[in-house]
Amino acid sequence: MQFDLTDEQKMILETARDFANGVVKPKAKEIDQTGQFPADTVKKLAELGFMGMMVPSEYGGAGLDAISYVIAMEEISAACASTGVIMSVNNSLVCDPLLKFGNEELKKEYLTPLAQGGKLGCFALSEPNAGSDAARQQTTAVQEGDSFILNGTKNFITNGKEANIAVVFAMTDKAKGHKGISAFIVPTDVKGFTVSRLEHKLGIRASSTAQIMLEDVRLTKKNLLGGVGDGFKVAMSTLDGGRIGIASQALGIARAAMEESIEFAKQREAFGQLIHNFEAIQWMVADMATRLDSARLLTLRAAYLKDKKARFTKEAAMAKLFAAETAMWITTKAIQIHGGYGYTTDYPVERHFRDAKITEIYEGTSEIQRLVIAANMFKD
Ligand code: CAA
Repeated sequence: MQFDLTDEQKMILETARDFANGVVKPKAKEIDQTGQFPADTVKKLAELGFMGMMVPSEYGGAGLDAISYVIAMEEISAACASTGVIMSVNNSLVCDPLLKFGNEELKKEYLTPLAQGGKLGCFALSEPNAGSDAARQQTTAVQEGDSFILNGTKNFITNGKEANIAVVFAMTDKAKGHKGISAFIVPTDVKGFTVSRLEHKLGIRASSTAQIMLEDVRLTKKNLLGGVGDGFKVAMSTLDGGRIGIASQALGIARAAMEESIEFAKQREAFGQLIHNFEAIQWMVADMATRLDSARLLTLRAAYLKDKKARFTKEAAMAKLFAAETAMWITTKAIQIHGGYGYTTDYPVERHFRDAKITEIYEGTSEIQRLVIAANMFKD
């Protein structure tokens, strides 16, 4: 294992940082307040190759490794966590499973526009009664000759309002439990696909979180992602990669909050001196930096294993768990360092605090990550 970035990874870091500071960050406060989807920014992210980072160039992607993806995600999310999750879902939860499980026809038709930014994707696994218990799918897909008819409701779908393509999970054979779930690629303009509700949220307010209704959505067999009954494995292995993306988003949020705290502490005076001279502040910043580096190392290790094509389920869960809890811890301390100012919208730390919370919930709660880690610890 080596810690130096390659020249290509260094270039991605510089490109992502410049773009994050120059384009993404200046809009972050406004779009958090208005809840406006950053369509122009997403278009520019696609021009940089950041919407299909790990997709090979033959399918229109940037052909980069997972480490580059972590680096870019951290930079974009440090500037704006909403933009970060829009990018993460398209990369990890839509392009990745299409690349891994899609046949050639699906890849040509859907992966290329998703990677090039002509289309945006969403991942429709969660349901009103199937969140952490993802195997309890109630959406059905009934086969009629060469067609499948889908009916059901999907909840909390990031990018759900804007997406052109959805990865949808549904029960094709309820009697088989999780082995009866299948995955489908669904163009969102198909008859019977509607966005039935938009959530009003604590954080990541510029990314949409939608409820989706599927009413007699008719698909052909060619829209199957993987085989009939492979859906749960498609979902779980996709979420392994997704958890690296969310860990990176959490790193970005945490780093931004730490940097804001250091800047504030270098300017704020109390008791006749700048507050960074107080041990109370120094120790908080020391703990922030130590936890952030630990979270980053865990995240890079998971990405390194993904790049090596080794199994990284446990490592991705550890990275997501620790990075998310670190983001929550650092953003809480960041507000403490800012005092009353940190509680106002005049300083960005309150936004980072609100944005951090979701990283402990989506793509598997912290409790689910502990469950996944523990299951792997007791394996033979
Ligand atoms: N890769 C491949 N296969 C896997 C796997 C993985 N990482 N994890 C499990 N599997 C397979 C198992 O091998 C097993 O296969 P067999 O039956 O052939 O042996 C099968 O899946 C079932 O495994 P488990 O018995 O472990 O499944 P479970 O039902 O007990 O629990 C769980 C699994 C970990 C709780 C899982 O349901 C889970 O991860 N839940 C959380 C769901 C989640 O993360 N939802 C997020 C929604 S997406 C989102 O947030 C999107 C967004 O818009 C941002």
